[in-house]
Amino acid sequence: MKFYLESKVGLMQNSNSKIWDNHYTKVKSKLLYPDENLVRILAKLNWQGRALDHGAGSGRHIPLLKNFGYSVKACDYSNTTIENLKKEFSDTEVRLITNTELPYLDNEFDLIISWGVLHYNEINEAKKIISEWKRILIPNSYLACTIRADTDTHLAIQKDLSGSKIKLYSLEEVKSLLEDFKDLKIGYMERTVLGKLDQRISHWIILAKS
Ligand SMILES: C[S@@+](CC[C@H](N)C(=O)[O-])C[C@H]1O[C@@H](n2cnc3c(N)ncnc32)[C@H](O)[C@@H]1O
Repeated sequence: MKFYLESKVGLMQNSNSKIWDNHYTKVKSKLLYPDENLVRILAKLNWQGRALDHGAGSGRHIPLLKNFGYSVKACDYSNTTIENLKKEFSDTEVRLITNTELPYLDNEFDLIISWGVLHYNEINEAKKIISEWKRILIPNSYLACTIRADTDTHLAIQKDLSGSKIKLYSLEEVKSLLEDFKDLKIGYMERTVLGKLDQRISHWIILAKS
């Protein structure tokens, strides 16, 4: 049994989470401002309740969610950022994620946000995470997330995350991943790196109902 538990923990405390651990030791990893696409979604939703930020990173969306009236929990699989988040947001429950089973109750949340997270997982892990989102969201509540699009040309050559598992998604793959959600709305954002007009940073922006 001990071996079983350890091997499950090993499932996600893998090379990817170590890469993110290293990333979050750098000063430049601290993002201060929320993504305006998420601000727009939250402003339109007119919704409140219990929110989870899955893959919270340096926590830039925790104050945003609180400003919109949500009570917030946050999680990530990088130990470094979890330690930082615990210090910075001592009044917020933050948890280290060690496998694709999320440590939350059925129907615990009214909103899950996951900004720029799923594509750092293998597709089977992403599918399991999505089924967990469905389990922990109350019916008819919201999922807002972004996933890196297959038109992206930047991530594969980004040195900071070299060696990371990355899966870029086509529109059809996104629709298929989220087939158990309803009212699926998908947007797209693309930008270039400053001074490098040939490099595309491309994401699908997704809002769906459980
Ligand atoms: C690009 S960063 C985005 C951070 C944050 N969501 C933001 O928008 O600033 C991706 C984050 O997802 C986390 N992550 C990736 N896969 C994860 C998983 N399966 N469970 C928990 N965290 C994950 C990484 O550790 C990293 O902090």
